[in-house]
Amino acid sequence: MSDIDHSALAAMVRGLYLGELSWPVTLAATNGAAGGDAECLSLGLPKGGGLELAAAAMKTGLAQWRSQRGGAPGLVPGCVVVETGSGATAFWPGSSLDEARLRAGRADSSAWAARAPWAVDPKRPWLSRTSAEGRSSVVEGRIALVTGGAQGFGEEIVRGLAASGALVFIADLNLAGAERLAAELNAVLERTAAIALALDVSDEKSVSAAIDSSVSAAGGLDLVVSNAGVLKAGSVLDMEASAFRLVTEVNYTGFFYIAKHAGRVLRAQASASGNWASDIVQINSKSGLEGSNRNGAYAGSKFGSIGLVQSFALELVEYGIKVNAICPGNFFDGPLWSDPVKGLFVQYLQSGKVPGAKSVADVKAFYEAKVPMGRGCEGSDVMRALYYLVEQAYETGQALPVTGGQVMLG
Ligand SMILES: NC(=O)c1ccc[n+]([C@@H]2O[C@H](COP(=O)([O-])OP(=O)(O)OC[C@H]3O[C@@H](n4cnc5c(N)ncnc54)[C@H](O)[C@@H]3O)[C@@H](O)[C@H]2O)c1
Repeated sequence: MSDIDHSALAAMVRGLYLGELSWPVTLAATNGAAGGDAECLSLGLPKGGGLELAAAAMKTGLAQWRSQRGGAPGLVPGCVVVETGSGATAFWPGSSLDEARLRAGRADSSAWAARAPWAVDPKRPWLSRTSAEGRSSVVEGRIALVTGGAQGFGEEIVRGLAASGALVFIADLNLAGAERLAAELNAVLERTAAIALALDVSDEKSVSAAIDSSVSAAGGLDLVVSNAGVLKAGSVLDMEASAFRLVTEVNYTGFFYIAKHAGRVLRAQASASGNWASDIVQINSKSGLEGSNRNGAYAGSKFGSIGLVQSFALELVEYGIKVNAICPGNFFDGPLWSDPVKGLFVQYLQSGKVPGAKSVADVKAFYEAKVPMGRGCEGSDVMRALYYLVEQAYETGQALPVTGGQVMLG
């Protein structure tokens, strides 16, 4: 069993539950056996042989466990204990992280009354699965990770997902900001809705560690939003190579690191679940669809990322992983544009970039007039696109514009 690391193991156990239940499950892990309770599934996995053999052994173990209990469909173990070379790990399922942690804390290995996290209407049981009605329910109970989630579009996405019932890891260079946001959401929503993680997406070790932390805490992932990004505008004739490299490393290489390490977890999860779809979504930009004057480093990193999205989508479809990009227009009300000290509106006013503009309001009006729908992109516009991509089971490798008509695909 030494060839499968803890993250892959946790994701596979979660995959086992996902495959049985077809709704999201959270896992809390503890060291040591669970006391041999009859409602636990104990697994010893084959040494060597990789994910496929281990997943097959897990499924066989579950089938045997169930047949010993009369084969009742839908019956799932109260916990799963996996023997590894270095001891046993017990995984405790819950419909929320709070429930999983409570059961782990009590070592409660009695039969788990698994329930879907959303309210299923008994008269219309198909509704929550097949309709766009109440679209936010598509993320309820799911485990999400949002990079750059402490402010801007990332913060909007974190708030939207948490309000819709997901558990969200807020992974950001600005750990203090991520912690503040997590504390606020947990207090307001009265549950563990968000957990902060330190992350530098341009550092592969940091990405690997953050993904591992999220899986250690909750057992797996359903939706990874690669949102962290930086913008350094400048003429191709003058731009310093260091600025160009920074933009490329965060926006382009950082997305590769996220897709690589999250993708490994999602693959392991899928090896045991069979049919559970997961999502990697990159927050791209309208500048990934058309060039941006004196902003080549940024536009290049975004265009390039669409190449990664398409290529990763082709490869990862085998594991039920959809990979798509959302290309928002300008978020005028976010800090990048509206920060009163260093926001782009103030900068453009001071540099005289907008002829005749006498105030920040004039500069804003100038940019709003470029949008056919007359306003900037907002968090809720991006959330609708995200819900669509998660709900849509028959699309991958797309770059979805959310620009108020400013960019139209040919
Ligand atoms: N603001 C816009 O108008 C706009 C428009 C289209 C697309 N986008 C895209 O949306 C995404 C978010 O942009 P925003 O304007 O909201 O950004 P922002 O500058 O307001 O926030 C970015 C967040 O990412 C974090 N971050 C920066 N570098 C990081 C790194 N190396 N590792 C981890 N976290 C890091 C920051 O700490 C911050 O919390 C970016 O990918 C951006 O390209 C923004």
